[in-house]
Amino acid sequence: MQRRRAWLTLLLLAAPVLGCGGPFPQTTLAPRSDVGWAIQDLFTTVFWWAVAVFVIVEGLLLYTVVRYRRRPQAPPPAHHHGHTGLEIAWTLAPAVILVFIAIPTTLTIFRTSGRAVAGALRVEVIGHQWWWEFRYPDLGVVTANELRVPVGRPVALDLTSADVIHSFWVPGLGGKRDLTQGRTTRLTFTADSTGTYRGQCAEFCGVSHANMRVRLQVDSAPAFDAWVARQLGGVVPAARGSPEERGLEVYRRSACVACHTVAGVSAARIGPDLSHVGSRTTIGSGLLANTPEQLARWIRDAPAVKPGVLMPPMPLPDEDLAAIVAFLRSLQ
Ligand code: CUA
Repeated sequence: MQRRRAWLTLLLLAAPVLGCGGPFPQTTLAPRSDVGWAIQDLFTTVFWWAVAVFVIVEGLLLYTVVRYRRRPQAPPPAHHHGHTGLEIAWTLAPAVILVFIAIPTTLTIFRTSGRAVAGALRVEVIGHQWWWEFRYPDLGVVTANELRVPVGRPVALDLTSADVIHSFWVPGLGGKRDLTQGRTTRLTFTADSTGTYRGQCAEFCGVSHANMRVRLQVDSAPAFDAWVARQLGGVVPAARGSPEERGLEVYRRSACVACHTVAGVSAARIGPDLSHVGSRTTIGSGLLANTPEQLARWIRDAPAVKPGVLMPPMPLPDEDLAAIVAFLRSLQ
């Protein structure tokens, strides 16, 4: 029984390493982009070098331990001082191995952080404490926390920060890239399969660093175009007397307008752009599902969900809260 449990524990510990089975939405071992594959290939190369070094070193160690172990009545061992041939060998061998690792590593670094290729979809990624802003300068689309890109087309991210250093990391597409205020870093990738890929900030950036999640949605080209078309649409006027219309009114006279953009209504840029918040699957930077209940919970007391968040609690009467939720949900 105990042995079985030990095996099970070992298997569970090894599973993420082996990348087999199980729901591991943030595994680094299932690349879905050219950058991901480049890093995977590099990882494989380094892994086999490490295996070779491990087997040789441990093999020699075990051989020496067994072969030269202390035996009863054995004469005292001979003493040697230096062996030029051996010393040259064990200095040169690691140096050669390091060269074989350094060359592909350097090539991969340059390959994955180059300038945008022609025809790439450009996206500006701005890190904030603790959410992601995505601006598509060629399309006129602004969104937050959920990055949408088409499959098979190069995507060129220009990354920067509005405050402290963050790190953009969606393991399915590849490596991490730091976002630093006052400078722009780059990450160019081409996703090879559609789907939703989870990621998160990978640089400690304050109390809610762990709550700074990101979702990458890779769509087919027509689905992406349809999404862009919807994002370009304005606020659809609500029916007179509807909760949505009332919600717009509440939104207009609340603190919301001081921080958020809703196209045609407000234009502040402190918090995420809400022009199409109803079309997102999550809110609060991936913390909550985008349902009326969770939206109400978020608006009522955001700091209770995400410690340190700039958005203050909004003590609205229940009716106003329901109306504002209806309004935000209607922003598709
Ligand atoms: Cu942003 Cu950690």
